[in-house]
Amino acid sequence: MSCDFFELANPGVRVLQPYQTGQPVEELQRELGLTDVIKLASNENPLGPSPAVINSLADVIPELARYPDGSAYHLKQKLSSFLNVDTAMLTIGNGSNELLELLARVFLRPGLEVIVSQHSFVVYPLITRALGADLVVIPAKDYGQDLDATAAAITPNTRIVFIANPNNPTGTWVEELDLLRFLDKVPGEVLVVLDEAYCEYVDDPDYPDGIALLARYPNLVVTRTFSKVYGLAALRIGYSVSQPEIADLLNRVRQPFNINAMSLAAAVAALGDQEHVRAAVEANKQGMERLLFACETLGLGYIPSAGNFLTIDMGQDAAPIYEALLKLGVIVRPIGVYEMPNHLRVTVGLPEENTRFIDALTTVLGGL
Ligand SMILES: Cc1ncc(COP(=O)(O)O)c(C=O)c1O
Repeated sequence: MSCDFFELANPGVRVLQPYQTGQPVEELQRELGLTDVIKLASNENPLGPSPAVINSLADVIPELARYPDGSAYHLKQKLSSFLNVDTAMLTIGNGSNELLELLARVFLRPGLEVIVSQHSFVVYPLITRALGADLVVIPAKDYGQDLDATAAAITPNTRIVFIANPNNPTGTWVEELDLLRFLDKVPGEVLVVLDEAYCEYVDDPDYPDGIALLARYPNLVVTRTFSKVYGLAALRIGYSVSQPEIADLLNRVRQPFNINAMSLAAAVAALGDQEHVRAAVEANKQGMERLLFACETLGLGYIPSAGNFLTIDMGQDAAPIYEALLKLGVIVRPIGVYEMPNHLRVTVGLPEENTRFIDALTTVLGGL
């Protein structure tokens, strides 16, 4: 007897659309018969990880038959001294996405509300709806989060406010004074999740360090990742810093071995090589300057970005431009799902990749 599994699914799950990842390089090569494809679509670190990471992975190979350390002891020790926080405040996740999801699973249920900004990271709506909670979307201000409107939208049902700082896909960020003014207005039982996936790239003296604010705001949770500046996106590892009580709750719902042994070893090694982080930040800065210059030259608008990506206004439907770039072997990110159909998001790549993108974009725009 056949069964309508869709009808059996949780109502929140039925309204979801699967997350669209950037098109893999290999897939495009197969589809279009291209050999030389570059991908500037997922905000990865073009330099890759520190060489120390590669050595650390080799050390794990003899131990592959064993379960990893479910307590992430070594990584927590290392993070604790690096961040100057107690280990009890740390939770390690399979990518920072897992932390976002664990927070949702601990704190959300039907009837409760989550507040996000328009154009904010797509995972927040996904996890909110999956748990049957209500999503409240605040219209963006200059593509960024309007913190006054966010504070004004808090109701007795609000349980989480997500703030991506900087935000993906807009690259916008909130400054410390604005954040403090906002946090002062938020009731203690509303969690503010400050998603700092790109924090290492930010070059603004007014950018707040979320972790330094934790003592003052117990309802604050900071999430960070090894996927971006540390170059470990494939290994899926991130962490949150929160009050120990919140970390304890997250620990109750996570899988016992949510982080594999290679990721744990790699993260420890990556943290130990801050020189590599500085090199990646510097390379990003130079690449960003080139992209900005190219936008000026091509007469294209863009959203000033604090991250390792730039969102460019094509001034028209960006879908045909995206497709034409694909045909030239350049994968960027269309962001229609973020209500930005005229924009394309491009990740800052290696110098030769940036050149390739700029040349391809110039060709495509010239042919329109
Ligand atoms: C704003 C933001 N938060 C979180 C993530 C999740 O990163 P990961 O799960 O790889 O740590 C991303 C990834 O693109 C992001 O852009």
